[in-house]
Amino acid sequence: KEKSEKNRGAFILLEGCDRSGKTTQAQLLLQSLKDKGQNVEFARFPERSSEIGKVIDQYLKSTTNEKNLKSMHLLFTANRWELMEDIVKKIKKGTTYVIDRYAYSGIVYSMANGLDKEWCIRMESNLPKPDIVLFLDLSVEDAAKRGEYGKERYEKKAFQQKVRDNYHQLIEDNWKVIDATQTKEEIAKQLLDLSLKTIEESKNKPIQTI
Ligand code: TMP
Repeated sequence: KEKSEKNRGAFILLEGCDRSGKTTQAQLLLQSLKDKGQNVEFARFPERSSEIGKVIDQYLKSTTNEKNLKSMHLLFTANRWELMEDIVKKIKKGTTYVIDRYAYSGIVYSMANGLDKEWCIRMESNLPKPDIVLFLDLSVEDAAKRGEYGKERYEKKAFQQKVRDNYHQLIEDNWKVIDATQTKEEIAKQLLDLSLKTIEESKNKPIQTI
């Protein structure tokens, strides 16, 4: 077991509110890491293509009030478990993963829906922990300036404000807060530098759990 974790890949996570530029940056980061010769793959949560993912997709697209918030939370969590087993196997064999949203999205969005913080955190426990969380942070006002929010359930200003406040409550040592008002190129460079450093530093460390 020890041997298979030598020279493992890194688990690099991007988090942020809707319209923080996360998805664009994840794609840029993936390409730059490939250009540097890194063995790297991409995943995102929710992954809407699985059976559980389809239920999540319907939930996000509907706007009717959801009463079973805890069971919805657990579906998002289950969606992580169903993919992470394979992802961890590949990380151990040397593939680096850039992942767009994860457990922290689960926690901050469910908290914004009124669920208890400690309950939300507990439900994510034992999932693999990212080596670094690149948190793209910008004010809700600045996010809204980027054009209309989309039509999905959570894309509303007041809700996004709560989400942002909740993210700020979760920041830990392995988080980097990135000022998302910078230019696309400036952000991309910071993310690349931090990712290359993380890949180097994680190589011979065991993968932690949340
Ligand atoms: P996306 O826009 O990145 O595809 O994310 C879909 C929405 O799902 C986004 O508003 C955040 C929300 N979400 C949760 O509520 N719980 C979760 O566990 C995850 C990963 C996302």
